[in-house]
Amino acid sequence: MASMAILMMLLLSTELVSGKVVQFIFGDSLSDVGNNNHLTRSLARANLPWYGIDFGNGLPNGRYCNGRTVADIIGDETGLPRPPAFLDDSLSEDVILVKGVNFASGGGGILNDTGSLFVQRFCFYKQIELFQGTQELIQRKIGKAAADKFFKEARYVVALGSNDFINNFLLPIYKDSWKYSDSGFINYLMSTLENQLKLLHSLGARQLIVFGLGPMGCIPLQRILSSSGDCQDRTNKLALGFNKAASKLLDNLSKTLPNANYKFGDAYDVVGNVIDNPHQYGFNNSDSPCCSFGQIRPALTCIPVSTLCTDRSKYVFWDEYHPSDKANEIIANEIIRKLGFLRPNATNAPSPSPADAPSSD
Ligand SMILES: *[C@@H]1O[C@H](CO)[C@@H](O)[C@H](O)[C@H]1NC(C)=O
Ligand SMILES: *[C@@H]1O[C@H](CO)[C@@H](O)[C@H](O)[C@H]1NC(C)=O
Ligand SMILES: *[C@@H]1O[C@H](CO)[C@@H](O)[C@H](O)[C@H]1NC(C)=O
Ligand SMILES: *[C@@H]1O[C@H](CO)[C@@H](O)[C@H](O)[C@H]1NC(C)=O
Repeated sequence: MASMAILMMLLLSTELVSGKVVQFIFGDSLSDVGNNNHLTRSLARANLPWYGIDFGNGLPNGRYCNGRTVADIIGDETGLPRPPAFLDDSLSEDVILVKGVNFASGGGGILNDTGSLFVQRFCFYKQIELFQGTQELIQRKIGKAAADKFFKEARYVVALGSNDFINNFLLPIYKDSWKYSDSGFINYLMSTLENQLKLLHSLGARQLIVFGLGPMGCIPLQRILSSSGDCQDRTNKLALGFNKAASKLLDNLSKTLPNANYKFGDAYDVVGNVIDNPHQYGFNNSDSPCCSFGQIRPALTCIPVSTLCTDRSKYVFWDEYHPSDKANEIIANEIIRKLGFLRPNATNAPSPSPADAPSSD
């Protein structure tokens, strides 16, 4: 009997030890799946219709989109479960062990100050702090050795940075906006990000991807800053500068940190192409939000009294800030292609690019 019990325990613990590969996601509104909806004082919440209209039961679920996030799609395509929001009521050690955790929070940034205008949000350092708490819970549940293995095998996604520009550096109410030059600010972001990624490495992260920024000068919120409605050139240049520096940083970290497989993937060029040639990708609009409140802009004006475009799959932007589900699919496919992820039934062939897409990079 005793040996039977020991065998059972062994089987159980092997199951846990060799358990699932899960994801831990750190990010902003582009990856939030419900954290901010639990931050009751936050001014950035996707908790009203029409958010989520093309997802599950169609009710708001915390995603700042009509449908899926880029991280949802990449996880689905690579066979990883979708991690619940850290603040989700369903979260428990058992759930974490099979699904991981998503710490992403709308308005959050690499810098602590970023997004303070939204009152409540988790900045990246706060998200890492919450992750440390999660690690302690799991260690207590399955023991230190098994926990170390679990966290080393997990996949890590880091997707932050646009708020550090849109809701910090580019707003004169923030001191960073007058303290730094454009390149000085990017350097400051990189040194902060470097420390954060090294901290995650020290906590066990070995397989990690960082998503780059898109042409954020072309989000509807930026376009209305000029009477011409054109993309903001300086904002786009900042995104390109960020991507270039982050790509170098990740290469370097991957070489210098022990056993680190750290990668950088962005979809800037493809999204730029989509915005310039929407019809080639099956879109009919690439400059205004599908969900909008007439001419009353900017700000988050996708609210219950807003009107929706007739065909959501024809719009690149869902609201003033965020791409639609369809655009996220293109972004996710590009990142999958660049990082060489295999799809579930994949051969080694690269993922198909959208119909008639002009080739990029
Ligand atoms: C940012 O916040 C973290 C904790 O969340 C803190 O440890 C760190 O010192 C802060 N950094 C700055 C520059 O304020
Ligand atoms: C790479 O990282 C090392 C160690 O952190 C640092 O000394 C070096 O300057 C970095 N190189 C580049 C190109 O960033
Ligand atoms: C594209 O939008 C124009 C008006 O902006 C409309 O007349 C046309 O029917 C739309 N095409 C599709 C395929 O939705
Ligand atoms: C992928 O594999 C699953 C299960 O093996 C199968 O049901 C599905 O049809 C396959 N999809 C493609 C595109 O081959």
